[in-house]
Amino acid sequence: MTIRQPSSVVTAHRQLEGGGFVVRRPLPSDELEMVDPFLLIDEMGPVEYGPGEAVGAPDHPHRGFETVTYALAGEFEHEDSAGHRGVLRAGDVQWMTAGAGVIHSEMPSRRIREEGGRVHGFQIWVNLPARLKMARPRYQEVPAKKIPQAATADGKARVRVVAGEALGARAVIDTQTPIVYQDWSLDEGADVTVPVPGNLSALAYVFEGSARVGDRDVAEGQLAVLGTGDAVRLRGGKARLLLLAGEPLRERVVHYGPFVMNSDEEIVQAVRDFQSGRMGEITRTARVD
Ligand code: CO
Repeated sequence: MTIRQPSSVVTAHRQLEGGGFVVRRPLPSDELEMVDPFLLIDEMGPVEYGPGEAVGAPDHPHRGFETVTYALAGEFEHEDSAGHRGVLRAGDVQWMTAGAGVIHSEMPSRRIREEGGRVHGFQIWVNLPARLKMARPRYQEVPAKKIPQAATADGKARVRVVAGEALGARAVIDTQTPIVYQDWSLDEGADVTVPVPGNLSALAYVFEGSARVGDRDVAEGQLAVLGTGDAVRLRGGKARLLLLAGEPLRERVVHYGPFVMNSDEEIVQAVRDFQSGRMGEITRTARVD
């Protein structure tokens, strides 16, 4: 096996998104536009909201890619133009293939909005190949207890496998193209080597503590872009990190806000379809909850 070494390490910046919530964003950044097929990595919070403070992203469209939401703390409420509605709690994952178009809202739950509380999670955007950009929207919602978990024999490295395979645990989520999405928790002295096929782009984002990725120390808030090889070696430091990998699409990317297509014409069409209501709308009926 050839261990992949970081070819660059970038530090996430903070910015405001949606209705004004703070994200820590390692991708895209000034140094790194995208890592094909990954378009965006947003760490939402961690933030401790007081009563009435919590904000989210009200109704907005997506076309041409996938949004993957992974809740770590708090409650994330979503509703969309296809009639889906639900709440993600710690450890739950929603893998949404926006395809031809979805309008959705992503908000902290009503309880968090009213009473306050801690909110922490990730949203990652995965590009779709041209052949799937106009596919029917598809949802995979997996509760925390159904996300496969595994640990090394010494228990010092533990993983939750959202996509791909690690330590014999195979994800239940089915991805459109080969994707690895793993949440690793490392203790001091942890040492694990994870096979990641050589044809995939690979990234490691440390969001707690610090870890050694290949032969390099990566601190909290840093994203390591990994070079060639067919395995990733992770060593602790007490740390938590996301290991991401995906098959590069190698197609032209034209990105305009919430639309990611292959040409300017397709972007113009997306804007038109959105403005003329062809991506649908969220049907809200009076609720008593
Ligand atoms: Co969205």
